[in-house]
Amino acid sequence: MTSNFYDALLRRRSEIEARYRSLTPKSAAMSIEAERVFPGGVTRDSIKRWPYAPFIESGEGSTLIDADGRRITDFWFNATSLPLGYCDPLVMEAINLQSSKGTAFFASNSPSVKLAQEVLERLDGADMIRFANSGSEAVMLALRLARGATGRDMIAKFEGSYHGIYDDVSWSVGPSADTFGDPETPTAVPESAGLPTALGRVLVLPFNDLAGSAAIIEKHAQSVAALIVEPVANRMGFVLPKREFVEGLRELCDRHGIVLVLDEVISFRVGFGGFQRELGVVPDLTVLGKVIGGGFPVGAVAGKSAVMMASDPSRTHRVTHAGTFNGNPMAMSAGLATLQQLSPAVVSKLNLLGEQLRSKLQEICEGLPLLVTGVGPLFKISAIGQKIENYRDSIRAHRPWEEVMSAALLNEGIFLTPRLQGCVATTTTAGEIDALSHHFEQVLRTS
Ligand SMILES: Cc1ncc(COP(=O)(O)O)c(C=O)c1O
Repeated sequence: MTSNFYDALLRRRSEIEARYRSLTPKSAAMSIEAERVFPGGVTRDSIKRWPYAPFIESGEGSTLIDADGRRITDFWFNATSLPLGYCDPLVMEAINLQSSKGTAFFASNSPSVKLAQEVLERLDGADMIRFANSGSEAVMLALRLARGATGRDMIAKFEGSYHGIYDDVSWSVGPSADTFGDPETPTAVPESAGLPTALGRVLVLPFNDLAGSAAIIEKHAQSVAALIVEPVANRMGFVLPKREFVEGLRELCDRHGIVLVLDEVISFRVGFGGFQRELGVVPDLTVLGKVIGGGFPVGAVAGKSAVMMASDPSRTHRVTHAGTFNGNPMAMSAGLATLQQLSPAVVSKLNLLGEQLRSKLQEICEGLPLLVTGVGPLFKISAIGQKIENYRDSIRAHRPWEEVMSAALLNEGIFLTPRLQGCVATTTTAGEIDALSHHFEQVLRTS
């Protein structure tokens, strides 16, 4: 029965592709040019989509305009990084002002200090911060800080969690069922070719399984520098950790002197104080990115001064942290203008909008082998007929169905990821949410 449901849409695959090609000839031509210069036609794996990604010329509010002049309603906002939508007037004013003064200097700048203060005010227990240029760089710095502060080598991460492209977190991000081993002791499976060994460097833990995670950590406790965890597990489908799981991880880290790192690159915007405040956990380090750059490349590590001070340049044995564009005034100004507008009231409004969207989708999915998950402004539709608590649950979803549904929605001018993930911004209107629900329902009806 269930496979008949998914097959119905998959049978329309070539018709959906033909319509996309007829709507987007310029993007098609540019994709061919891009393939000559970029391996696989893209310079960022995650934007690749079937049959090819649209080329975007501009964005305003929630609307993207592609190379063929089509108006597309965006529900992904550069991977959740633009909570105020495109070309927010105050963000534009801030970056126009900064660009008129200069875009990069080999010296400190005041927007970086103001943004630091703005972020630190929101994070309980964080005294200091360092900026980087991406979430991946920030993860790399956080783990180096933890290793430097503890003098230990190993880091522990969860199966199915994505923390960017640094080698030591590129393990078991999306392992296949034939490689990932027992649920209690997941095998560390390389996410990429070209990685050095995980042996002695990386432990992979089962998400939402405190006893299982503790058993693995305890075998290596004196060697583990950091445990890194996402408060909202993005790649599993915005799956939430159980409260007792996160509390247990905090205790486990305290017991063994392990630095607890929360990766809030995506989830920071879910609560005014990040999602960590909603979960009631105070980490040693928080990794940030996306929204704090207001649309510019950014990353940051914030945390307790006891750990952060390991990177104090006046110390002889220290953790080094450099970067030509760290704290770049353009990114800092845009981030500041963004966060100053993300007040508690605006965060609540965005979360309510997200909730309304999810409940509309849930109504449509009622009785079908489809699951709507998410929190705050984030949502995902999964082609699965059961709950998802961890990575192994999530891989039962029918990915080809999700990809074809995403392409069918793009034909109707709705942009979600190929895995049907989305988010709302302050520019998202009730009409846009209705349009998403309407087109989703229509595609389901005609399949
Ligand atoms: C949870 C999480 N951590 C880290 C990263 C890496 O951030 P960046 O793409 O800025 O390197 C991402 C990116 O999506 C992420 O979702």
